[in-house]
Amino acid sequence: MGYSLPYYIVPSIILLILIRKYRESKWGKCRNQVLLNKKVAIITGANSGLGFEVTKELASRDAEVILACRTFEKAELTCIHISELLDNSPKLVPMELDLASLKSIKHFADEVKRKYNKIHLLINNAGVSYPRKMTAQTSDGFEIHMGVNHLGHFYLTQQLLDLLSESSRVVVVASSLHERGEINLSDLNSFAAKKTNLYANSKLANIYFAQELARRTKKEKIKVYACCPGWVYTGLFRHYMRWFHFIIVAPLAFFFMRSPKQGAQTIIYCATEPSLENETGLLYKDCRYYNRRTIFFDNIAKQLWEVSDKMIEDALKKSDVQV
Ligand SMILES: NC(=O)c1ccc[n+]([C@@H]2O[C@H](COP(=O)([O-])OP(=O)(O)OC[C@H]3O[C@@H](n4cnc5c(N)ncnc54)[C@H](OP(=O)(O)O)[C@@H]3O)[C@@H](O)[C@H]2O)c1
Repeated sequence: MGYSLPYYIVPSIILLILIRKYRESKWGKCRNQVLLNKKVAIITGANSGLGFEVTKELASRDAEVILACRTFEKAELTCIHISELLDNSPKLVPMELDLASLKSIKHFADEVKRKYNKIHLLINNAGVSYPRKMTAQTSDGFEIHMGVNHLGHFYLTQQLLDLLSESSRVVVVASSLHERGEINLSDLNSFAAKKTNLYANSKLANIYFAQELARRTKKEKIKVYACCPGWVYTGLFRHYMRWFHFIIVAPLAFFFMRSPKQGAQTIIYCATEPSLENETGLLYKDCRYYNRRTIFFDNIAKQLWEVSDKMIEDALKKSDVQV
């Protein structure tokens, strides 16, 4: 009867912390210390969340990092912020890239080609999920998830392909939510898909893209890795989350949600890990190969490539982009 409340509370808190620590230990940590000595890396969506953490890590390893952000101001501010955090005088290059505009992508790629003759690392990280309006489109009329997450990066990678060569790596930031996605090859741009699946569909397209890119660039010995960072506390769902979601999600988040630094580990692993040198086209999570539940079909990967190509070609014809 003499037991007081702290008698229960303190052990409960310790137990919760231990469970959290146990879970964290399973999330995988990139343990290599590989230095990137002036290697050139491009990372899309570098200004926030996972992109910010990965940029900071690559810069701390002495890479020259191009921050490809939706506005130049965001890229510039991020460069200043990261420079303040690091003490190795990092080489950070701010650039504007709006993946919702083929014109912007072309302009960005032309600028990169003018300044560099080799890219060692391309990290297709930027992403959009649950925009303010679920019927949102890119400026070329693509459904926003498919347009930014897949088609934007698809076009960007194609535009930069000449700068990628032996030992270059392309890291595609996907998500294990691809397991809920589907690819409708006859209408990739479909708004008719169940609303909640639009993001998952684009993430499935990311993985098929990585698979097909790997196949097409095998001869050139370019390495392609798709990865899932896990469930990470970032601004990705900012237009979707209401105050009551935070209350509902908080207990789950305590056990399952990673910090951006923890989420960035598999992306950094795919970008730097020497033991991956002989692998390409696979999916990783928790800094190891992800034994995926989905079966990926080569013919879908090939067809998705062709359909994506055609969609971009048609959109370019309608726009004033000089190809
Ligand atoms: N967070 C998770 O739980 C989770 C799980 C699995 C996979 N992922 C993937 O991780 C990647 C990074 O997301 P995050 O979680 O770090 O979210 P985030 O903090 O919202 O970062 C997304 C980044 O993408 C940029 N972006 C969005 N639309 C763009 C456009 N049209 N052009 C150029 N950049 C654009 C954003 O720029 P603005 O700041 O200008 O909006 C932002 O920098 C995404 O591909 C996401 O699908 C995240």
